[in-house]
Amino acid sequence: MTEKGPIGLFDSGLGGLTVVRALIDLVPSESLIYFGDTGRFPYGPKPPGEVREYAQQIGDLLVERDVRAVVVACNSAAAAALSDLQIRLPVPVIGVIEPGVKAALAATKTGRVGVIGTEGTIASHAYTKTAAALSPKVEIFAQSCPGFVEFVEAGDVDSPELYQLAQEHLAPIKAANVDVLVLGCTHYPLLASTLSSVMGPQVAVISSAQATARAISAIELRSGSNSAPTHHFITSGDPNTFHALATRFLGSEINDVEEHSWS
Ligand code: DGL
Repeated sequence: MTEKGPIGLFDSGLGGLTVVRALIDLVPSESLIYFGDTGRFPYGPKPPGEVREYAQQIGDLLVERDVRAVVVACNSAAAAALSDLQIRLPVPVIGVIEPGVKAALAATKTGRVGVIGTEGTIASHAYTKTAAALSPKVEIFAQSCPGFVEFVEAGDVDSPELYQLAQEHLAPIKAANVDVLVLGCTHYPLLASTLSSVMGPQVAVISSAQATARAISAIELRSGSNSAPTHHFITSGDPNTFHALATRFLGSEINDVEEHSWS
């Protein structure tokens, strides 16, 4: 392990790129390695034990690549495996849930906060428990949104079909009169304009991806290396599809994508 190694991040697919984007904007001097487990996507509907096993494999792989820290850039993996990875890996491990909750608590005026995420994240009650520990008065209204991540992985972030599904999933959260909505899945910031237009201008939309990037930049992980930063991408799915969508979602050209096969 080297003090000057890159920061490693992972997600089930493309969603964690929202954390990568926010991190590059905040700390452009950092080198990053991103692993998108597209070949085993999605994590949300899978049992927590299976997601934990995948998270351990990717954590070990990133440590073999000499990362200085691991960012679990996936709420479903953080809900299932964060504390496990923090014990297992010999580097700091940072999740997306606590930074998102803290940003929501800072933003809410009414104490009524909506959280949307995958089935796994919502079933884990990770947001409700974290919020209760930090601020017992805040009420969390949580809703799983099956289907959203598949739209993102297909490159569709604003079709009428997506808008229709968003109206259905967000109806209970709207009815609860929340003043903040936490995007408790790293894929969802890519749908932010659709989700925001369904919720209306009176609801502040908080991205757990941006809140996490701010938390990482605040804890002085900077390598202090003088060499130009590198951004390396690995996928367990099709590298060409990953390259095309990652370029679009990151808004910048990325180098070749490494293909990883789980044997
Ligand atoms: N991006 C992942 C998250 O934050 C979820 C996608 C999936 O279901 O695999 O939860």
